[in-house]
Amino acid sequence: MSTDTLPSAAAAPTAPVSPRTARIAVLAGDGIGPEVMEATLPVLDKVGELFGIQFEYEHALVGGIAIDTSGEALPPKTLETCRRADAILFGSVGGPKWESLPPPQQPERAALLPLRKAFGLYANLRPAVCHPELVHASPIKSELIPNGFDVLIFRELTGGIYFGQPKGTTAIEGGERAVDTLIYETPEITRVTRAAFRAARLRASKLTLVDKANVLESSLLWRKTVKAIQAQEFPDVALNFIYVDNAAMQLLKNPCQFDVMLCENMFGDILSDEAAAVAGSLGLLPSASLAEGTFGLYEPSGGTAPDIAGKGIANPIAQILSAALMLRYSFNAEPAAKAIEAAVRAAIADGFRTADIYTPGTNKVGTKEMAAAILARVK
Ligand code: IPM
Ligand code: MG
Repeated sequence: MSTDTLPSAAAAPTAPVSPRTARIAVLAGDGIGPEVMEATLPVLDKVGELFGIQFEYEHALVGGIAIDTSGEALPPKTLETCRRADAILFGSVGGPKWESLPPPQQPERAALLPLRKAFGLYANLRPAVCHPELVHASPIKSELIPNGFDVLIFRELTGGIYFGQPKGTTAIEGGERAVDTLIYETPEITRVTRAAFRAARLRASKLTLVDKANVLESSLLWRKTVKAIQAQEFPDVALNFIYVDNAAMQLLKNPCQFDVMLCENMFGDILSDEAAAVAGSLGLLPSASLAEGTFGLYEPSGGTAPDIAGKGIANPIAQILSAALMLRYSFNAEPAAKAIEAAVRAAIADGFRTADIYTPGTNKVGTKEMAAAILARVK
C-alpha cells in the first residue's frame, strides 16, 4: 500500500521513459456510481499519460450490488482487492432496494464503516466549494456570496460516538435501553488536528474547531488539545472556536467566514451535508478519507441518486474531482491533480452543465459529454 519507492510524478511531468504504476481498487457500487466511475477512468488515463503514471484498475463489488451477488455489502474478496491497492476509488452505495434491511446490514453502514476502520481512514476531507459561476445553484441569496465560497470540512472519521464502546441495546423493565458512547483520547485528536492544520496552511491559514464545549467533556479535551498543538506547532494558522449549533447557523448566513472547519466525527457528518447543500450541487463535491501514510479512499460527497441512475444524466464532476484528490494525497502527483481540477473549471467556464447545475443560456449535457468536455481540457 505504499508508494514510497515510486518516483514522484512532480519530478517528471513530461514524457517519462518508464511510467510508474499506481494500483487502484475501483469500487463503483450502486445507483449512479457505475456510470460516473466509467466516465472518470478515461480522464485518469489521460492525466496518467501526460504525467507518467500507469493506472492499474482492479474492480470489486461493494454495497447493494455486493449484497445481491454475495450476501454482504463488503465481501472479503473486495477487502482483499483494497488491501492489494495503493488507493480506493469509491463510487456510492445504497438505494431503495436495500432500505428495508436491518440498519447494520444496509449498504452504507455495512460497507463504509468497516472500510474506514479496516484501513484506519481517520481524516476525512470534505471540501464544499461554490464556484463563482455557479452561485445561482446555492440556496443562499447570491448577494451574500457574490464570489462563491470555499470551505473545507475536516472530519475525524474513526472515533467518537460512531465507534465508542459501550454501544448497544438491552432490555429493561418497561422497554429497552440504548447506549452510544462519545469518547475521544488525546492521540486520536492530535493526529487529525495536525492533518487539519497542515491543510489549513495550504489554504487561507484559518482553522475553526467546531465543538460543544459548553456541554460535552469530550469537546473540552478537543479544545485543550487543539489549542496546545496550534501554540506549539502552527502559530501561523489562526485558530478560533465555534459551538456546533452556531456553526450550523453561520454556514447558512455567512459561509465565507470559514476556511477549514475541524469537527469530531458526528458533527462533521452533519455539517458536511449542510455545507454541501449550501454549496449548490452535491454532484460537484469530492471527498478524501486518509490513513497514516499515503493510503486513502476517495468518493463523491453525494449519494447514489437512485432517481436518476441509469439515465446518463448524472454529474460526473464529483467522481472526477475525487480522482484528483487521489492523485494529490495518495500518489503525490500534485501537477496531475491540478490538471484535472483546471480541466473541470475550464469545462464549467465554457458553459458545459449537467442537469443539476443547468441554467438557461448554458449547454446542457449528459454524463458522457461532460466527461468528454473535461477530458478534452486536460493538459
Ligand atoms: C457519510 C454517511 C455515513 C456516515 C453513513 C452512511 C454511515 O452519512 O459518509 O457521511 O454517517 O459517516
Ligand atoms: Mg453523512
